[in-house]
Amino acid sequence: MLRLAVLACFAVLASAAGPCCTPKQWHGTESMVIGSMANGKAAQGYLTKASYMVNFDADSRRVALIGTSETNGYASNVKVLIDYNRNVQYTVSNGTCTKQIPNADPGSCVPANATVSGHGFLGVGSSAVNVTQYSFMIDRSTAYLTVTDNCIPVAETYYGVTNGTYAFTTIAFTGIKGGLSGNTVFNLPTECALGTGTINGGFAVGRRSYFA
Ligand SMILES: *[C@@H]1O[C@H](CO)[C@@H](O)[C@H](O)[C@H]1NC(C)=O
Ligand SMILES: *[C@@H]1O[C@H](CO)[C@@H](O)[C@H](O)[C@H]1NC(C)=O
Ligand SMILES: *[C@@H]1O[C@H](CO)[C@@H](O)[C@H](O)[C@H]1NC(C)=O
Ligand SMILES: *[C@@H]1O[C@H](CO)[C@@H](O)[C@H](O)[C@H]1NC(C)=O
Repeated sequence: MLRLAVLACFAVLASAAGPCCTPKQWHGTESMVIGSMANGKAAQGYLTKASYMVNFDADSRRVALIGTSETNGYASNVKVLIDYNRNVQYTVSNGTCTKQIPNADPGSCVPANATVSGHGFLGVGSSAVNVTQYSFMIDRSTAYLTVTDNCIPVAETYYGVTNGTYAFTTIAFTGIKGGLSGNTVFNLPTECALGTGTINGGFAVGRRSYFA
């Protein structure tokens, strides 16, 4: 089964008072590796490597991703548009659009019940940046999310077992900037414009990052 790695967002409503909330709008690169084994058997496992440009807007509750994903050696060009206000997600894989109901909107804040699991810094000398690592649960997975003092995501790891499938995800966030990368990032992908997709309740993609 081809599984696409997509984003994930902060697991609470944006209005919840978590330890930190991201900027209202941001964009950047999300690079991830996901490993999974069904029933503990490597033969039923998959390894996904993906790299996406992410655009995030907390006010309009939309997230867009564009990039490439490779699962067990099979590469795909991927576009994802999630509109939480309309409760719809479009996923385009190698030109084929699928319309789905997205997972619950995680919002843009670290969960209020997250605990601080570490402090540290990146870089050297006067250019060093302090970071904080939070840990919390996403569904049945344990998550570790590292952010800067102004709540810019740096790295995330999560792992857990769902229905006998063991999964481990690591994500690096790089080049994060405030604002969006353009004013058409939330346009409906052209592949979806004919409305040929079918709604299904499933979420055929790997867990997204807590962020995007
Ligand atoms: C997607 O397209 C690329 C480039 O054309 C191709 O190499 C790849 O095999 C395709 N992936 C799938 C899953 O069909
Ligand atoms: C980073 O953390 C250290 C240790 O808590 C502190 O002394 C320093 O002022 C912090 N730097 C910044 C830029 O906040
Ligand atoms: C925090 O709250 C969520 C949802 O209410 C819950 O699933 C989770 O187990 C709680 N604890 C941690 C450490 O995340
Ligand atoms: C786990 O399995 C149960 C029973 O087959 C199913 O209802 C549920 O949707 C599954 N959960 C996930 C996350 O796949």
